Amino acid sequence: MKVEFGSAPVTEKIIQACLRRSEGYDLEGFLLGQGAIPAKIMFVGEAPGATEIVEGRPFTGQAGKVLEQYLEKLGLTRQDIYISSAVRSRPFKDKVVAGASEGTIPRISRSNRTPTKNEVLAHAPILDFEIEYVQPQVIVPMGNIGLHRLIGSHETISSLHGKAIEGPVLQLEDPEDPISGYVFGERSYSIFPLYHPAAVIYNRSLEEVIDRDLTALRNFLAVKNNS
Ligand code: URA
Repeated sequence: MKVEFGSAPVTEKIIQACLRRSEGYDLEGFLLGQGAIPAKIMFVGEAPGATEIVEGRPFTGQAGKVLEQYLEKLGLTRQDIYISSAVRSRPFKDKVVAGASEGTIPRISRSNRTPTKNEVLAHAPILDFEIEYVQPQVIVPMGNIGLHRLIGSHETISSLHGKAIEGPVLQLEDPEDPISGYVFGERSYSIFPLYHPAAVIYNRSLEEVIDRDLTALRNFLAVKNNS
């Protein structure tokens, strides 16, 4: 089978639908997922940050460096997998840092933030499409935002990380309906949750557990490839 590298050729219609659905939210830019098509493994993160929006490529900031380490431990490269996220724009938060009280033009500092549930729902059409198009067998949600987008929010990454769950993933019931909610799709996947690469930047004590999870995922993929 021929494997291409790039972004799933999402139609302008899907992008426009996501932009329309997210009108009024503090989101900027729009970045497609990237990787092998088709890919056996798809990683699903949270949302791009400032660096990714500038570079036009997922996971190129600090978290991207950690993701590269994940891939190295898994014996994989970006050419072997597809990387996407629950939200495809950068959720931001603006803060006035100087100037407002001095009668000068206020200086604003813009930072990344976690996407809200509504923002994730607004961008659902594109992740649904990418999953359909990339046809992964294994989906690796990284962090709670990706995990909850795929299986709902009844469990957290701290209880599900490092082991496979077999089952369907959530998708929009009716992508044409702007108020549609999620339903589970028909296809079953191996879902293997991991901590988000940014988690270890803030909490070094996760290093050991992430290491164990990556070994478990590597073994799981080896067994899956041989079956
Ligand atoms: N975090 C994500 O979830 N995705 C990116 O592209 C970058 C950081």
